[in-house]
Amino acid sequence: MSVQQTLVLIKPDGIAKSLTGNILTELSDTGLILVGAKIVQVTRELAEEHYQHLSEEKFFDELIRYIMGEFHVKRVLALIYHGENAIAKVRDVVGATNPEQAHPSTIRGKFGRITTKGVFENVVHASESEKEAEREIKLWFRPGELIQTIYPVESRQVAKTEIFWKQEKK
Ligand code: CDP
Ligand code: MG
Repeated sequence: MSVQQTLVLIKPDGIAKSLTGNILTELSDTGLILVGAKIVQVTRELAEEHYQHLSEEKFFDELIRYIMGEFHVKRVLALIYHGENAIAKVRDVVGATNPEQAHPSTIRGKFGRITTKGVFENVVHASESEKEAEREIKLWFRPGELIQTIYPVESRQVAKTEIFWKQEKK
């Protein structure tokens, strides 16, 4: 066993069905620590990069539309969990990819479905391996968005315009 981190996405069907609280409760029961969280509007670019390894699959186009929220709402909740054996612990509570095959005690078994079009609406994503977790976390988050440093970082000097909350005139 080793200390790991894993990326979880509450997919648009999970958000649309108000399952966020239930899912967070199940994930919290793993005892893992939440080290990053944010709500994201998924662009086509991010979706295609995230699922790049599935680009040859016949369900790829539907999958991209699904994760972008075209069938539900245009947002996902991205979470990073950290701790001993985090990848397997999260995959265990998440359940099998096919929601009809997922054990009824798992998140996908409880809340997932297959649409009449055959699209798996399986509520959450969870990283599959340490390598994939690292790739996915680096794709979805910037180092400063995490409450602890889990991968090596470097600083670079960049010139950029930042957005701030507008100050009230007194
Ligand atoms: O998400 P997981 O790692 O369990 O499965 P995957 O094989 O990495 O597939 C990624 C996602 O593609 C799944 O979570 C489903 O949303 C979707 N998928 C699908 O719609 N139909 C399939 N036969 C397999 C996957
Ligand atoms: Mg996967």
